[in-house]
Amino acid sequence: MILAGGLATRLRPLTLVTNKHLLPVYNKPMIFYAIESMVKAGLKEVLLSTSPDHSGDFANLLKDGQEFGLKLYYVVQQNPKGGIADAISLAKEFARGDKLLVILGDNIFDAKKLKSAVIKFKNIKKGALIFGVEMPTESKQYGVVEIDAHGKVLSIEEKPEHPKSNIAQTGIYIYDERVFDFISGLKPSARGELEVTDLNNSYVREGTLICEFLNWWIDAGASYDELLRANNLVAEKVKKGEL
Ligand code: DAU
Repeated sequence: MILAGGLATRLRPLTLVTNKHLLPVYNKPMIFYAIESMVKAGLKEVLLSTSPDHSGDFANLLKDGQEFGLKLYYVVQQNPKGGIADAISLAKEFARGDKLLVILGDNIFDAKKLKSAVIKFKNIKKGALIFGVEMPTESKQYGVVEIDAHGKVLSIEEKPEHPKSNIAQTGIYIYDERVFDFISGLKPSARGELEVTDLNNSYVREGTLICEFLNWWIDAGASYDELLRANNLVAEKVKKGEL
């Protein structure tokens, strides 16, 4: 599943009449990178969740996904600020009791490790897998992952005032089929959203959350500066043939 809803208020006025995931990142609309990551991970069917105002734009741009080499399905998240876990709940029928890979549509990253993680997760009976990234400085604008010396995840905190580590939780998650049960037990956070961090902490409490690491990653929708950094980094990687 790829998430492309939300209101992207942090990027206004860029996002007043268009959806953030349709903004350009170097030579492509932002959403292309998440779709291409799905292709690299070997996925053949992808559900795209969009906000009500822009679903037609995505359908016009991406059609049935054939040009990318996969089959695209669409779902509209009626409350665009319902939260990431609310959007994930829309995949219940699509998942048909199987495991689910979720990518946030504004994340651009090194997808090399994704395929091996997907294959590894097929053999895992229960749990979830997240990807972390070590940030050069503190990571309080993201979910922050606390890990012990053996690599066990101890906690994840959403945008904490005092981060316990410099490991950011990226927007790439793999869940077992119980994810929808965990979501139905969540309560909205102070900002009124069903938070992915609360969802992932359900697995932390159970001791079944695995954290793998990516070499590089950008949340291109985090701020004007991150959007600019994404454009420059992607341009550099495309020119070097690395993306
Ligand atoms: O990018 C990684 C970060 O993503 C994580 O470190 C955080 O733990 C996680 O909460 C999330 O934080 P953001 O503040 O970046 O989330 P944002 O509201 O920007 O939404 C992320 C993506 O999910 C974006 O592509 C839009 C989509 N989205 C978001 C919401 C709230 C939806 O499709 N529906 C929603 O209701």
